[in-house]
Amino acid sequence: MNDAVSKVLISEEEINNTVTRLADEINRDYAGKEIILVGLLKGSFVFMGDLMRKITVPCSVDFMIVSSYGGKTFTSGEVNIKKDIGDDIKGKNVIIVEDIIDSGVTLSAVLDILKKREPASLKLCSFLSKPARRLKEVQIDYLGIEIPDEFVIGYGLDYDEKYRNIPCVGILDPKYINE
Ligand code: IMP
Ligand code: MG
Repeated sequence: MNDAVSKVLISEEEINNTVTRLADEINRDYAGKEIILVGLLKGSFVFMGDLMRKITVPCSVDFMIVSSYGGKTFTSGEVNIKKDIGDDIKGKNVIIVEDIIDSGVTLSAVLDILKKREPASLKLCSFLSKPARRLKEVQIDYLGIEIPDEFVIGYGLDYDEKYRNIPCVGILDPKYINE
């Protein structure tokens, strides 16, 4: 395992089982409908790739880039849209795909922005959630796993743009944090 991981929190097998469960729920809820999966880059791309391959209803994918933490492990509270989706979502069934909901600040802002575009439905699917850190309440319609208040890396999640390639989710060893 990568030295920066002090403890494995979620194994590859548990990740796979969780993604299968989430895709099953989505396939059941959207039977007979079409969906657009909107991933928030960069963190969600690994989860998105796994999730979409288990989705059996007709789906398209799009991505947004919103401001993130940079090199720090706390949120700035500011959300800045750097890349918007290309598709018009009016009248469409949209599911936002996120790696982790932490303070909820990013997601509540993104939800407000997308709601104004009048989709037929707008839901949120997040692989992880850290409820202890919530500043803004957000409803997670499809939730993978709740984790304790620890900074985690791997499975798309980074610290200072590194460690996204680690195949499991692990706790970042504090020795590797340089604030
Ligand atoms: P929020 O606005 O505080 O909910 O921040 C959400 C974003 O912060 C996520 O999409 C991640 O990119 C990042 N983030 C929050 N917690 C962690 C973590 O433990 N590890 C890596 N990135 C995190
Ligand atoms: Mg990040």
